Amino acid sequence: KEIKVFCPATIANISCGFDVLGVALDSVGDEMVIRKTSENGIRITRLEGQNLPMETLQNVAGVAGLALLAASDYSGGFEIEIYKKIKAGSGIGSSAASSTGAVWAMNELLGNPFSKLELVQFAMEGERLASGVSHADNVAPALFGGFTLVRGYEPLDIVPIPSPSELFATVIHPQIEVKTSDSRKILKTKITLADGIKQWGNVGGLVAGLFTNDYDLIGRSLVDYIVEPIRSILIPGFDEVKIAAIEAGALGCGISGSGPSIFALSKGEEKAVKVGNAMREIYQNIGIDYDVHVSKIN
Ligand code: HSE
Repeated sequence: KEIKVFCPATIANISCGFDVLGVALDSVGDEMVIRKTSENGIRITRLEGQNLPMETLQNVAGVAGLALLAASDYSGGFEIEIYKKIKAGSGIGSSAASSTGAVWAMNELLGNPFSKLELVQFAMEGERLASGVSHADNVAPALFGGFTLVRGYEPLDIVPIPSPSELFATVIHPQIEVKTSDSRKILKTKITLADGIKQWGNVGGLVAGLFTNDYDLIGRSLVDYIVEPIRSILIPGFDEVKIAAIEAGALGCGISGSGPSIFALSKGEEKAVKVGNAMREIYQNIGIDYDVHVSKIN
């Protein structure tokens, strides 16, 4: 028996919510095929699209799968085929897509013994391998869909958040690679109370705006005082792209996860496409190759 699964890309942080907010992109993602085997353990039998390790312990899907197996009384194992469409190091949750897709499909094949929350915890082991930190802000939306809030890590508490029907995400990926582990190392470990006050005001505002379909409130809340000022230095053209996106009518714009991808949220598809064109122009002028995606938020 086998399952083919679509593993969505995700935008983590959404400006103000470092390590706690994320959203799934329904039109960008990988495919995986997972199949049961009688022998115990996990084997990656195929990996196309990206140059990534196939050894179980070096592969995020392998490690996430092993975490599930360890918690299960199933005596067999799984084979995994991975067809990557998401580029590693692009900032739209490449590792989370693989970890999540693996454990979701395995759970289905076993008759759903595990809850979504448990699956998030298994997938977080993949994130630990990829970035050194088992953050859940990509794996949670990849599993739940839409927006999610990691209300707490100890114990893990995930809150799915609804969103207005005309909300679209535009993501531009300048073709440079930024490793999450590197872009975490440059962050400060302390923040000032003044920055904290502004930041949690925005987190509350963004969540409230998503619940009440208040696009203006969503836009006002898409501000990051803590991480973006530091990380944006790693992304050539970031300030120009952000200005161009806002001028083209985006509600807000920021770094997608740990970068280098930049995301914008807009009301309506037409606006989201226009925002993508404005962002594109900046990288054309700078001379950096890029990919642009527009995705409806569901
Ligand atoms: N919250 C994580 C970070 C997401 O920003 O480092 C990484 O994709």
